[in-house]
Amino acid sequence: MFTIPAIMLTSIANASKNSNVEKDAGKRILHQQHCDIFNIVEYIPKGKNMTPIRLDKYISERTEYSRSKIKELAAKGKITVNNIIIKKSDTKIDPETALVKVLGTPVSVSKYRYILLNKPDGYISSTEENDGISVMRLIPPELRKKGLFPAGRLDKDSLGALLITDDGELAHKLLSPRSHVPKIYIVKLDKPFKSKYIDIFSGSILLSDGTQCLPAKVRCSEMSDKLAFIELHEGKYHQVKRMFAAVENHVEKLMRLTVGGLILPEKLKFGECMELLHKDVENLFYPPDFDDFCSDFIGDFSAFMLNNQL
Ligand code: URA
Repeated sequence: MFTIPAIMLTSIANASKNSNVEKDAGKRILHQQHCDIFNIVEYIPKGKNMTPIRLDKYISERTEYSRSKIKELAAKGKITVNNIIIKKSDTKIDPETALVKVLGTPVSVSKYRYILLNKPDGYISSTEENDGISVMRLIPPELRKKGLFPAGRLDKDSLGALLITDDGELAHKLLSPRSHVPKIYIVKLDKPFKSKYIDIFSGSILLSDGTQCLPAKVRCSEMSDKLAFIELHEGKYHQVKRMFAAVENHVEKLMRLTVGGLILPEKLKFGECMELLHKDVENLFYPPDFDDFCSDFIGDFSAFMLNNQL
């Protein structure tokens, strides 16, 4: 069993301290996640003379509910603010201190949503469904909202960490080739790893169509010569598969383990999602050193691949 990445520990520690919803009403919201693994605590800052906003605007910006639906739910007494039923959806609330619930489910205090999905095989990283079933179907209803999209791409048969957000600016920063946010993958190879890959990948390898890649780090697992870890600083189409094809090997399975400083937690099963804390979102831009990551996690992720026959 591998240890849970440090970035998740705060969430877990906070969650275990708060196993019931809103221990500290008005200050904390505890979301019971769909996957029932991580309970994410968000802190509502103390009110600082915020401009009040309409309840229906607040909810519609943070959920999938339309203003007319919100009006209907409010009239039926299904919306509470700080545990008081509010029947008029145009009521003004303080967005900094309000603890809003619709049908008993807390509405996220954050305007933007950040979700980490452990992508399973067979889903496409797109909001459209022209080429298959979208990963968006895996988002549980309580985390759904308008404008969410996958910030990055994993092939239909690839697995692992996929960030889903409605924060276009963050997604742009994360995906821009100029940001060089690294991503680490574990791959199962068809043929044994060769040590010459380390030098070849650390140069600027040419793909079969003449595409030149940025230098990448690669390392073989000690548990199997057909398992390798690779860190990329860019995301060209089928890049990992094409890089191994360029050295006459073949990727049979690929799982993304990190996106910047975000490490896929072991307990997040394929197809499950968790909402990220702002701190975790900031961590996206503080990636682990590849060698440190490998020292800490190579055995655990290798064992995971072998045990699950991936
Ligand atoms: N590289 C690939 O070849 N496929 C992916 O899904 C991600 C990176």
